[in-house]
Amino acid sequence: EKGNYPHFMLKEIFEQPETVENAIRGRLDHEMASAILSGIGLSPRELLQIGHIVIAGCGSSMHAGLVGEYYFEDLAGISTSVEQAAEFRYRNPIIEPNTLVIPISQSGETADTIAAVREAAAKGAIVTALCNVVGSTIAREAGRGIYLHAGPEISVASTKAFLSQVVVLLLFALLLGRNRRLSRSRGAELVAEIEQIPDLIREVLEQALEIKKIASRYAHVDDFFFIGRGCLYPTALEGALKLKEISYIHAEGYHAAELKHGPISLLDEKHPVMALANDIPGRDKILGNIQECRARKAPVVAIATRGDRAIRDLTQDVIEIPPCSRFVAPLPTAVALQLFAYYIAAERGCEIDQPRNLAKSVTVE
Ligand code: M6R
Repeated sequence: EKGNYPHFMLKEIFEQPETVENAIRGRLDHEMASAILSGIGLSPRELLQIGHIVIAGCGSSMHAGLVGEYYFEDLAGISTSVEQAAEFRYRNPIIEPNTLVIPISQSGETADTIAAVREAAAKGAIVTALCNVVGSTIAREAGRGIYLHAGPEISVASTKAFLSQVVVLLLFALLLGRNRRLSRSRGAELVAEIEQIPDLIREVLEQALEIKKIASRYAHVDDFFFIGRGCLYPTALEGALKLKEISYIHAEGYHAAELKHGPISLLDEKHPVMALANDIPGRDKILGNIQECRARKAPVVAIATRGDRAIRDLTQDVIEIPPCSRFVAPLPTAVALQLFAYYIAAERGCEIDQPRNLAKSVTVE
């Protein structure tokens, strides 16, 4: 039930401190400065043999995978690629020996992701799924995996499942990293950062009214660009998807460096830009991108680390995020973007939980 919330989406956004706690519970190993993920069913030796990771998914689940790519490569040193599941299934992909395929799906029933699991298994990959729905087709067919424990997600727009996917990918990368080259002290730092995530989310939720105010200034627009770098690049893709699916505003996510390769020609006062400018590596470059947007009169909403004066000098519409590391930054940032999309859609009077033409799970290709 929705309780006091007008929509399931808002309820699910506000549940996230708890759903993330559920995704983490019992999965941190303080002693070893690592993670415990028994469902993956792989011994330390088998984990060590993994030479390549392929992540397959659709929509928000694919975006979570794109964040995971940074984790696996940086923390575990394992080359990783992320595939749209339909593309993976039809491209006749090359699966090298010792490849781990990670299908990601909230529902566990997405047709293309199911087909990707079958393709991967037929080609001899080790398959470990990330699913939310217990006993779903993907969870059953993969045979091993990690449940998200986000509880039922009713809103068509995925929120809490996306966050749990990212958290579980971070736990998985921590485990693989500690199994290899990641030092104990770096592992311990990450454990502490992961434990902080629910509080970071709470701090963003406390700013809901402020985000609503900013959103109301943009509810009338027809187009929106979202830009980010590093782990915040896929976060920008996810923010744009959220806005377009529930508000029907045309929204595009771009790597900030791509602006100059085309989209900047569109920028003017009618094309606002959401810039993910948290204080993590790449922030100075985003600052430059914001200046480029402002020079073309594009209104800019910035997500910035609390107290970042330089960004306030460039735009009045700043959503503040508590300080956090670059690996954790996608989580509170995604929450701010969910609220931003939600309040714009609410102001436009949209059918938020059931956007037109969309189904909660896409069981046909
Ligand atoms: O159930 P799945 O995670 O496999 O679903 C994948 C996509 O259909 C889903 O994430 C979709 O993009 C959402 N509506 C996004 O909010």
